[in-house]
Amino acid sequence: MADAKESTETRIAQGLHYVDPQSGGVIPPIQPSTTFARDADYALISGAHSYGRDENPSYAAAESMLAELEGAEDALVFSSGMAAAMAVIQALAPGDHIVAPKVMYWGLRNWLVDFCANWGLELDLFDATLSGDLERTIRAGKTKLVWIETPCNPTWDVVDIAASAAVAHAAGARLIVDSTVATPVLTRPLALGADIVMHSATKYLNGHGDVVAGVLA
Ligand SMILES: Cc1ncc(COP(=O)(O)O)c(C=O)c1O
Repeated sequence: MADAKESTETRIAQGLHYVDPQSGGVIPPIQPSTTFARDADYALISGAHSYGRDENPSYAAAESMLAELEGAEDALVFSSGMAAAMAVIQALAPGDHIVAPKVMYWGLRNWLVDFCANWGLELDLFDATLSGDLERTIRAGKTKLVWIETPCNPTWDVVDIAASAAVAHAAGARLIVDSTVATPVLTRPLALGADIVMHSATKYLNGHGDVVAGVLA
């Protein structure tokens, strides 16, 4: 359990006090295996890892750290920010209503408009900088997901997460926050009432321009 007195930066540097059980190394090794050994009774030798697409000890170390930083029950890493976002939208059913901002990462907004039209999801875009526009756009009992991005790419406008969560929850919807730009160092959307946090970890979470990844927490 994290010491509340420690800064986020310190907790990141400590990496949950990871120690590799085999070598004593303090950095988790990268496990490249796609498949994991079983014994003569077909039981998994590790007791857990089965197949790389589902689960891999290298992802688990990053996911635990991200869940801890976001104050989330759990976190999942994806092959890109777009893949993380698509996983949430594809969990909805035809006929569900989504509310998303007019200004958000353009690649995701364009995909969302096309995907919703092709898959029978209803989408309405709102102006996140206009007071009351989310209330006017949301449909109580029909809207399943409210999407916000803050600060939003490319205007860097800041959206009120707690107020958006209150509007979403009053209508029976869930709030997802694309927190790519803020990272958990600056903002923890779950503590402000959001239900899911999403990141393009390709950006500031990675910070070195050498990884494409996405996160849901
Ligand atoms: C705010 C935001 N969300 C999502 C994405 C998509 O993430 P990725 O490029 O990792 O698929 C980006 C990419 O620029 C972004 O800036």
